[in-house]
Amino acid sequence: MLHNIDINKMNTLTEENSDAKQIIGQLLENHHRIVSTIAHEIRNPLTLVSSSLQVTELQHPEVKEFPHWKQTIEDVEFICQLLNELSAFNNGEVLNYSVFSIERLLKNIAVSFAISLDSEVSDIEFSSSIPSNLGDYTGDKVKLEQVFLNLLYNARESICGKGQIYFSASRSEDFLVIQCEDSGCGISDEVIDYIFEPFKTYKAGGTGLGLSLSKKIVESHGGSISVDSKVDQGSIFTIKLPI
Ligand SMILES: Nc1ncnc2c1ncn2[C@@H]1O[C@H](COP(=O)(O)OP(=O)(O)O)[C@@H](O)[C@H]1O
Ligand SMILES: [Mg+2]
Repeated sequence: MLHNIDINKMNTLTEENSDAKQIIGQLLENHHRIVSTIAHEIRNPLTLVSSSLQVTELQHPEVKEFPHWKQTIEDVEFICQLLNELSAFNNGEVLNYSVFSIERLLKNIAVSFAISLDSEVSDIEFSSSIPSNLGDYTGDKVKLEQVFLNLLYNARESICGKGQIYFSASRSEDFLVIQCEDSGCGISDEVIDYIFEPFKTYKAGGTGLGLSLSKKIVESHGGSISVDSKVDQGSIFTIKLPI
C-alpha cells in the first residue's frame, strides 16, 4: 500500500511530467480493474457456498449442533463482508454527485443508529445534535452515509458495557463539521498513526477498511478527517467538508 509520502511524490511527478501522469494513470486504472475482478471472481463461488450452507441448515437443522458449523458460517460471512468493503474501498474515489439536505441525511442516520442500538439491548446512551441551518450539500450521499455509519459503528464497538456516543454537526462559513464522540476504550499512541491505513485493525473480526475508506471518501470531497483520543476515556472523530 502507498503511504502518504509516496502519494505526495506521485502527485509531484504527475504535475511535473505529462508522460509520468499518463503512465501512472494507466497503472492506477489497471490496479483498480484487477482488484474489482478478483473481488468479483471470489464473490461468485462464495455466494454459492453461502447458499449451500443455508439450504443445508434448512433441510438438516441438526447441523447447527455440529462442531465448527457456527464458526464456518461466521467465517463465510466475514469473507463476504471483507469483499464488499474491499470493493467499496476500491471505488472510494468514484463519486456520484447529487444535491441533498445534509440535515435530513444526518437525522436519518441518527435515527437508524438509535434503533439499531435499541434492538441490541445495549447500555449505550446515544444523543445527537443536528441543527436545521446546515443547508444543502453537493456530494455523494450514499458514500457519505457510509462514512458516518463507519464512525458510529466504530464508536459502538469501542464501548464495552456502559457508555455514551454523541453525534453532532455544525456549519461555519466555509465548512460543514460533523463529529462523532464516544466514551469508549480510546486509541493508544502506538496505533493512532496507523488507523487510517487499509487493513489495519486492532479488533477481533475487524477488516481494517472502515476508516481508510472513510478517509478516501472524505478527501475525494475535498474534506478532512481527524481524531483526538485518550486511552480509557474515549475518542472524537471530526470530519470537515468544504461547502
Ligand atoms: N471510536 C473508536 N474508538 C477506539 N478505537 C477506534 C475507534 N475507531 C477506530 N478505532 C481503531 O481503529 C481501527 C481501524 O478502524 P476501521 O478502519 O474502522 O477498521 P475495523 O473497525 O474493521 O477494525 C480499529 O481496529 C480500532 O482499533
Ligand atoms: Mg470499523
